Amino acid sequence: GAPVNADISQMQPGQMLTVAWRGKPVWIVRRTPDMLKTLPTLDGQLRDPESAESIQPSYCQNELRAVKDEYLVVVGVCTHLGCAPLYRPAIGSPDVGTDWQGGFFCPCHGSRFDLAGRVFQSVPAPTNLEIPPYHFVSEQEIRIG
Ligand code: FES
Repeated sequence: GAPVNADISQMQPGQMLTVAWRGKPVWIVRRTPDMLKTLPTLDGQLRDPESAESIQPSYCQNELRAVKDEYLVVVGVCTHLGCAPLYRPAIGSPDVGTDWQGGFFCPCHGSRFDLAGRVFQSVPAPTNLEIPPYHFVSEQEIRIG
């Protein structure tokens, strides 16, 4: 499939943008400093905190799973059976839990992922959400694929 470009110039902090790539949704999330701060605190609750068993380009196998800390780029397909997880960025989401720190929640069988797409323990999804190949064309544009 051809690469697709995403214009991120209008994205607000905390906002998510969806673009289609190879027939799949790719989500771009502009993470806030507060969101980024929570991520290292979650490692002990995650199945694959270092993304050793998960799919991402080598340049995104880092703590925040990103080229630039602020932007998460991730395939929006649950690694369990392929449902579409929901973006639940708020702390204490009513449908996920009062201790929720923000992330993605799959309504099909309850898998939960943090704001780096890393899967929590004790849910059916086996691995973190996939990170596609991408790069920044400029400060305002990301090319996926
Ligand atoms: Fe997402 Fe099963 S498809 S939890």
